[in-house]
Amino acid sequence: MSIPVLTAVAWPYANGPRHIGHVSGFGIPADIYSRYQRMAGNEVLMVSGTDEHGTPILVLAEQEGVSPRVLADRYNKVIVDDLQGLGVSYDLFTRTETRNHYAVTQEMFRAVHRNGYFVPQTSQSAISPSTGRTLPDRYIEGTCPICGYDGARGDQCDNCGNQLDPIDLINPRSKINGETPKFVESEQFMLDLPALAVALGEWLHTRKDWRPNVLKFSLNLLDDLRPRAMTRDIDWGIPVPLDGWRDRPDKKLYVWFDAVIGYLSASVEWARRFGEGPDHYQHWWANPQAQHRYFMGKDNITFHSQIWPAELLGYNGEGAKGGEPGAFGHLDLPTEVVSSEFLTMSGSKFSSSRGTVIYVGDFLREYGPDALRYFVSVAGPETQDTDFTWEEFVRRTNFELANEWGNLVNRSVSMAHKNFGAIPPAGALTDVEAQLLGAADTAFSTVGDLLQRSRFKQAAGEAMRVVSLANKYISDTEPWKLAKDPADRDRLGTVLNTALQVVDDAKTLLTPFLPHSSQKVFEALGGQGVWAAEPEIQNVTDFDDAVEGVGVPEVTDYPVLTGDWAGQQATWRRRPIESGIPLAKPTPLFGKLDPELGETGPDWAPIKKD
Ligand code: MF3
Ligand code: ZN
Repeated sequence: MSIPVLTAVAWPYANGPRHIGHVSGFGIPADIYSRYQRMAGNEVLMVSGTDEHGTPILVLAEQEGVSPRVLADRYNKVIVDDLQGLGVSYDLFTRTETRNHYAVTQEMFRAVHRNGYFVPQTSQSAISPSTGRTLPDRYIEGTCPICGYDGARGDQCDNCGNQLDPIDLINPRSKINGETPKFVESEQFMLDLPALAVALGEWLHTRKDWRPNVLKFSLNLLDDLRPRAMTRDIDWGIPVPLDGWRDRPDKKLYVWFDAVIGYLSASVEWARRFGEGPDHYQHWWANPQAQHRYFMGKDNITFHSQIWPAELLGYNGEGAKGGEPGAFGHLDLPTEVVSSEFLTMSGSKFSSSRGTVIYVGDFLREYGPDALRYFVSVAGPETQDTDFTWEEFVRRTNFELANEWGNLVNRSVSMAHKNFGAIPPAGALTDVEAQLLGAADTAFSTVGDLLQRSRFKQAAGEAMRVVSLANKYISDTEPWKLAKDPADRDRLGTVLNTALQVVDDAKTLLTPFLPHSSQKVFEALGGQGVWAAEPEIQNVTDFDDAVEGVGVPEVTDYPVLTGDWAGQQATWRRRPIESGIPLAKPTPLFGKLDPELGETGPDWAPIKKD
């Protein structure tokens, strides 16, 4: 039975190029998962886009003397290019600066407000004493009141992951100029989390099979549910759709309120552009059979296991104050929040502000997408913080990708090419062949089961185990010796046919991880057409949706990522190879890296010696 699967991928901030730490948290795991789900025959809708509101973009724009929109346009394009290069298979990768997104966000706000889950409250807002201007939460630093970490920000602490208010910080200071912020009274709309607490708890307590640290963290959040401000004193973002608010240039919806709504607005946009009809998003959003998996780094957990479900419950009218769903009807809550930990570099969080940064674009230009995808799959921060080192990257690439996998493909295809010019027929199989073929066949269920549960490291390990077994089989059966004696020609055919079948199986098992090289292996084995599809960039025109308030986007063109996933041949089962298919001399699948890279790093991200 085919299951509707929503893959909801965290929205990268359009405030700079993304580094490899970012994509190891959201893009790569989400893509492995989605590619597997499609191969297994499920109906995947994979959505995301650039997150373009909030203060970091505003502050950067001011520094550069351009408008935030110009900056968002610039980095939206950069990020779209990077994600395409990486091969992340979105059905729609869009952005938050669209009228479609503004309209969906405002509809969400109005319904939650109508249902009574927004309460106005006067609270303390930080301003810069020297300029009198609002100081964005993210630009206030101080000591975390919960864990004591000194680099906590006004919106959250990266050390313990807790959501904070600037006023909570001990010894607050402005990151812009070091001064101590002044706190003044300001009215905001608070999301009434206490009124949603019971419903949130009931939902969360049915979530059993999450990664233990994600579930534990999320359950802990239930103990401290306070109203949270969902509007901000800022002049960049989505207007608050209420009388007295919509025309105020200095009040906007909080960036996290609108960003998480992106999952819904992008699904709606997908339905309008590429679906069977504008309501097609309901197949995922109003469907008890559907599975919703959200992929992100751990600093995003709060917003996906608390704020977003609370917005949905408020929208549905499922909290203590009751209510009715809005125009989109009842919306489903997340099935699972799949969070990764941090990719660090020599201990410090991989962040553009601290330490060396390795940008996705630079990485792709030099090493291609599959080396990075492989590294993150087998050595990424799946369940604990993990240090990226060039040494480890070189080791994984040279010994596992090039020596183990690349070499298996290369030697089996070239021996078959040299001796038969084609896939040779198999004669009688011995136990050794039967065992190897059996192990490869079983791997489809083992690896598939692990991928279904987002156990990517283990899944990649099991797929690579098939590669090792095949290498061992070739060493044991020594086909190069069989090739010397014409009397062994049938046996040689059997051995090479078996090896090629297992190569083909391994390329299928590795497709979610290494789609680009799997396509090459497919072709090396005589396959025609598209085995694993890749995302493409399309230029689209925004919809002229009705949006309330001042400072809303014009109807413009923008690039989106999408792809012909239905047109690819990749399926999650053995594809029996056919003898007689001509084989060309293979070209190497993976180049080897100079071991010196492990000691120096590339010149664009050198290892700092101290
Ligand atoms: N922009 C956020 C980050 O990079 C992630 C937002 S995920 C969202 O940390 F879906 F909520 F937008
Ligand atoms: Zn903390």
